[in-house]
Amino acid sequence: DWTMGAYREEAIARIREQVGDKKVICGLSGGVDSSVTAILLHEAIGDQLTCVFVDHGLLRKNEATEVVAMFRDNYNIQLIHADETELFLGELDGQSDPETKRKIIGKLFIDVFQKHADTIQDAEFLAQGTLYPDVIESVSFSGGPSVTIKSHHNVGGLPEKMGLKLVEPLRELFKDEVRALGRELGLPQSFIGRHPFPGPGLAIRCPGEITREKLDILREADAVYIDQIRKHGLYDEIWQAFVAILPVRTVGVMGDGRTYDFACALRAVTSVDGMTADYYPFTHEFLGETATRIINEVPGINRVTYDITSKPPGTIEWE
Ligand code: XMP
Repeated sequence: DWTMGAYREEAIARIREQVGDKKVICGLSGGVDSSVTAILLHEAIGDQLTCVFVDHGLLRKNEATEVVAMFRDNYNIQLIHADETELFLGELDGQSDPETKRKIIGKLFIDVFQKHADTIQDAEFLAQGTLYPDVIESVSFSGGPSVTIKSHHNVGGLPEKMGLKLVEPLRELFKDEVRALGRELGLPQSFIGRHPFPGPGLAIRCPGEITREKLDILREADAVYIDQIRKHGLYDEIWQAFVAILPVRTVGVMGDGRTYDFACALRAVTSVDGMTADYYPFTHEFLGETATRIINEVPGINRVTYDITSKPPGTIEWE
């Protein structure tokens, strides 16, 4: 696409002009926005860029490995993989209130990001994958009534706190344009077309107390579910799909024996912007086959339910 080709060159020139020979830190989540930001910056300023990938231990199966392989090995971007699983799961231990969990994660995330960013000598800039809709939203809502349904987890206020200037190369783009730019930059479709994944990660898909056991079960069940969706060619029709592990064990039978394992809920929605959403009308055949696969392939789960709540009144995530 020639338009994106031209945009890419312009964006690179602007980054070089803004940054000069100074160093830039970029928080990398593996999502499309931060990925495209990082690759664009790397094209513009090479090794003046260091990415920080905070791994809170609440990522999906193989996610950390894939992100590190993509950016460090494939793109040759300097990347700090901050594996802080112990810290996050330690602080979350015994916590079951949704807002408390979110706040713990949000605060630790900032602390940890800052700690690792501080090891980068003479950094002057912080890069963020802010999109045009984020820019408008923060303007139109300022001064208006503040209704917080869930505390959102991002790194707002961090640049000021760290004394860094912002670089936001995607500020003029909408999501589909970011995807086009990502394609232009050679980012594989598996990253570009990814469903959104929330900052607090699997924590908000694990209502009640978070344990390593539940997280492991959740990761396996989610992987089977997404595999099913891809195999049936439905991934791109769905805005977001995931499994939530429920804080309840139920009785089942398997072979000659009685089981007493966790129940899980499958979630899949269509949406334009995540503000409203409809549950996805899977066929009964798909649901039955998926339930069978999860129960057969994931030890620890013996019951599968499908969440048919739309938003509103539900939210997309479970917490
Ligand atoms: P809800 O659950 O509020 O989610 O209907 C709407 C969209 O936002 C995502 N989400 C988050 N994303 N930090 C994020 O970066 C968060 O704290 C957060 N909470 C929800 C959710 O995955 C969905 O796409």
